[in-house]
Amino acid sequence: MRRDEFSRRLMRETRLAPDDLIYPLFVLEGGNRREAVASMPGVERLSIDLLVEECTAAHALGIPAVALFPVTPPELKSLDAAEAHNPDGLAQRAIRALKQAVPGLGVMTDVALDPFTTHGQDGLIDDQGYVVNDATVEVLVKQALSHAAAGADIVAPSDMMDGRIGAIRAALEAEGYVNTRILAYSAKYASAFYGPFRDAVGSAAHLAGGDKYSYQMDPANSDEALREVALDLAEGADMVMVKPGLPYLDIIRRIKDEFGVPTLAYQVSGEYAMLKAAAQNGWLDERKTVLEALLSLKRAGADAILSYYAKDVAQWLREASSR
Ligand code: PBG
Repeated sequence: MRRDEFSRRLMRETRLAPDDLIYPLFVLEGGNRREAVASMPGVERLSIDLLVEECTAAHALGIPAVALFPVTPPELKSLDAAEAHNPDGLAQRAIRALKQAVPGLGVMTDVALDPFTTHGQDGLIDDQGYVVNDATVEVLVKQALSHAAAGADIVAPSDMMDGRIGAIRAALEAEGYVNTRILAYSAKYASAFYGPFRDAVGSAAHLAGGDKYSYQMDPANSDEALREVALDLAEGADMVMVKPGLPYLDIIRRIKDEFGVPTLAYQVSGEYAMLKAAAQNGWLDERKTVLEALLSLKRAGADAILSYYAKDVAQWLREASSR
């Protein structure tokens, strides 16, 4: 059966399509402005006008949704992260611009405080620097509501506080946002693969050697991921996420088998950087390795994948199918 392409095609179990992809993007203040991200060659921070152009192109390639990550100017960061729920904040303006320009494109937002805190943690801290859960959840609720009010289709809490899904769901219902979907970053590991992302949003310098071990998951654990997913589903999550992607294929498979719910995977910044660096050195075939990595995430059970390669992949798949 492996002898010819025709018979390989007949027994192929998993297929990757643009439908599977969510495209994460970094948003910057200003107009007609783009900035390269040093540790993620090929990825740029874009001002809202250029973001709209990029998303229009992604939508035309068949990508169903994008995920937005704002780059907050340092002077707007604070201990209480108030900028996170500013109705006219960068993320909120970007959502409105995108929903107006490309209404058919799903817009997902990150619910977490790290772009807005002076210390780069995802939540509020006490005087020991410990991230405090319940006070943080109150701010996350305000942030999620401000995203929903701006028109976000999906809010995605990536902060790993306990109880935030239930609190956000209740607030959305109370305010009439009954169709806003919640993607819970349920199994989010305290991973070193997020390094380039923290450069991209400018939280790395603020975090300055700090870590997120008191709320993100220990990479050694697997049963705990199932407990986190069970809690988030009980609290009202529509979809759950495993993050990072490729080092955590076993987690994706366990969650998919156990719950059978929409399960997403995030091919994170460090995974992108590794593939890109090897490709740029001529050590790996970029197209083949990226497609293999994403296919593997799908084979493991992911229904959709966040990938900085999303637009390239949609383009490559289009070229392959027109051959
Ligand atoms: C912040 C957040 C992070 C990522 C997505 N949302 C970083 C972190 O938790 O420090 C990482 C994404 C990536 O590495 O591509 N809450």
